[in-house]
Amino acid sequence: MQLDVFLKQVSLNHALNVLIWHAAQAGIEIAALVKQGALQGTTEKTTNTNVQGETQMHLDIRSHEVVLEQLRASGVVAAVVSEEAEEHISFETVDAPFLVCVDPLDGSSNLAINGVVGSIFSILPNTGVATQGSQAFLQPGQAQRAALYVMYGPATLLVLTLGEGTHVFTLDHENDSFVLTQQTVQIPPETSEYAINASNQRYWQPAVKRYIDECLQGAEGDRGRDFNMRWCASMVMDVHRILTRGGVFLYPRDNKQPVKAGRLRLLYEANPMSLLVAQAGGESIAGLEDVLAIQPASCHQRVPVLLGSKQEIQRLREYHQQAK
Ligand code: AHG
Ligand code: MN
Ligand code: MN
Ligand code: MN
Repeated sequence: MQLDVFLKQVSLNHALNVLIWHAAQAGIEIAALVKQGALQGTTEKTTNTNVQGETQMHLDIRSHEVVLEQLRASGVVAAVVSEEAEEHISFETVDAPFLVCVDPLDGSSNLAINGVVGSIFSILPNTGVATQGSQAFLQPGQAQRAALYVMYGPATLLVLTLGEGTHVFTLDHENDSFVLTQQTVQIPPETSEYAINASNQRYWQPAVKRYIDECLQGAEGDRGRDFNMRWCASMVMDVHRILTRGGVFLYPRDNKQPVKAGRLRLLYEANPMSLLVAQAGGESIAGLEDVLAIQPASCHQRVPVLLGSKQEIQRLREYHQQAK
């Protein structure tokens, strides 16, 4: 079943369906750019830095432009927050029903090594950007109407939730259309695989140190079984693995970043991925609290993220409570 047919079946909200269709078109355009690699100069860095102080790749900027073009063309988006723009961008349709927060190209450092990248979208109701400005974006993740990512891997996938289940579509490159290939994904509740950038170990807090120490002890330790480890440095790819075969993904609070809140951004990384994981039967916490319950303070705010298989995240929550 094609994406547009699926949307008509599960959602009566025509404007939302139009928005998702345009996000998918952006994904198809970016997939084509990613595929061209160095032939398009897309693996090169620019001399610009974004609001997080990261050096932008050409494809970070190009993807941002593609996403803006598609979202503007949808006619149902009032304004956008993007990783690659300091201020929010308002469209002429400032009273349209939706706001979008976007990471146009996630994992972009992987471009240089021909690794997997993605695009992440969070769709919020427009509570009045015309009068409130960027304040209108500061809604907890629970308010999201939909979330999706497009993953530019060996196959291009679109993973979507409208708040009722998480579903996977695969791009048919011959017809430029996304086809439903997995409905209602379920993350196994109990698993033995974790993802964390272990080079930050000395900056972690006690609860995360304890959890990872126990995983490393394997069958000889308290957990009584061996654990496996993976880290792709591309949140889309790491989260996709968890949706596919379970496990946990941790970018915890640490003492390394100037803000000491981990690396990932609440509005366009943590919130959409947390909704997708929650709708697949997993959980997502920032430590003691649910990511989706956090009241954002600013558009580019960073937040700790611990997400994945239910039983493991519950264990991590307990460890945080005990370390209080
Ligand atoms: P982005 O490329 O959009 O800035 O995001 C990169 C993020 C995320 O994809 C990944 O999980 C994390 O950064 C990797 O961080 P480290 O380089 O610290 O491992
Ligand atoms: Mn970046
Ligand atoms: Mn990212
Ligand atoms: Mn990015």
